[in-house]
Amino acid sequence: MKLKTLLSVADFARAAGGFLPDCVRGYVEGGTEDCQTLEANLRAFDSVRFRPRGLAGIEVRDQSVELFGRRYPSPIGIAPMGVTTICRHRCETFLAEGAREEGLPFVLSGLSTTPMETLRETSGEFWYQGYLSGDTERIGPLLDRLKHNGVSVLVVTIDTPVGANRENNQRAGFTIPFRSSWQLFWDGVRHPRWSMQVFGRTMWQDRSIPRFTNVTADPVGHRITENPPGGLRQGRDKLNWGHMAWIRERWDGPLVLKGVAHPDDARRAAAEGMDGIIVSNHGGRQLDGAQASLDALPEAVAAVPSGFPVMVDGGFRRGSHVLKAIALGARMVFLGRPMLYGATVGGTAGVRRIAEIMRAEIDCDMALLGCRNLAEVNASILTARP
Ligand SMILES: Cc1cc2nc3c(=O)[nH]c(=O)nc-3n(C[C@H](O)[C@H](O)[C@H](O)COP(=O)(O)O)c2cc1C
Repeated sequence: MKLKTLLSVADFARAAGGFLPDCVRGYVEGGTEDCQTLEANLRAFDSVRFRPRGLAGIEVRDQSVELFGRRYPSPIGIAPMGVTTICRHRCETFLAEGAREEGLPFVLSGLSTTPMETLRETSGEFWYQGYLSGDTERIGPLLDRLKHNGVSVLVVTIDTPVGANRENNQRAGFTIPFRSSWQLFWDGVRHPRWSMQVFGRTMWQDRSIPRFTNVTADPVGHRITENPPGGLRQGRDKLNWGHMAWIRERWDGPLVLKGVAHPDDARRAAAEGMDGIIVSNHGGRQLDGAQASLDALPEAVAAVPSGFPVMVDGGFRRGSHVLKAIALGARMVFLGRPMLYGATVGGTAGVRRIAEIMRAEIDCDMALLGCRNLAEVNASILTARP
């Protein structure tokens, strides 16, 4: 497929949807229970409208942003996503390479299958997102492994203490750990391109079942078909602020909480020495009924000291969406599904094409808004929808 013919994130979503078996598409696109939060994320952008300015002399425009001592060319990054290997063989490598070539931050999920040692060699710098157990004896060695592999930013996800109720996965026969079934077999038969390019390559080229190699300090990990001793979630429900203080003492680099949804948690994150937060509801994949990320953003920004990095994800599909979040005080916007659609459809080139589309939309919208840089993208250009 010619990637240039895909003009928007929605075009990529359609192309990826046609390629993936129903169960994998459901895993990627789905939310939890009644999908209220999934839909709220997408709808929230309509609650604020722009107030563009004219005659602003916008012939030179700069959408770069400074974060954790680095300047990124655009205010977008790639959110952590687990088990992407079921969308495309070597998917994490493509996400990481696309990010490197476009200069975007890439957050490697702890539930990934390419060992971080390999990724470091092939793809350079990345952030790491942990689903941490509430057990310092396990966290400590993991921190050593991250440091050893030059992980620049540690992101701890706090909105997933337990697995959520993803009924669509259950209906499609999709579980983690994976269990084969006739239902999945027929799904694969009806999607032969996926069966050959993803399932086939994994089995014939790698000759092994993918393993979760980045959950703990152990790079061997466990097969995605296995329940490890202690269970997949390994006491995540014990994780509390005490663990974050413990990690803070041992992790010198930037430390970020992901899944912040309440202003008191935002305030406390800053007070406890975190370096940033990502306002997120996990793309509508955890607590159904949680408010949209864009709606939660202003309160989070108001709760932290000025200049404290507040990032956000959830439902961003257009440059205009990104600019609304920036205007409400976000420093960086992470894209989940859009980047996964890009990697699914076109590998590294697909990720780069999504970045290109978003960057072009941001640039065009900045011009139409009368903004020369992101500092000018502020609350003055927004109004609540009447
Ligand atoms: C397929 C998939 C897997 C995900 N896996 C993780 C994960 O391993 N860790 C995590 O913190 N968030 C995970 N998320 C949530 C994303 O990091 C992000 O919060 C969400 O996708 C943003 O919403 P968007 O997809 O609408 O952009 C996942 C999301 C998707 C779609």
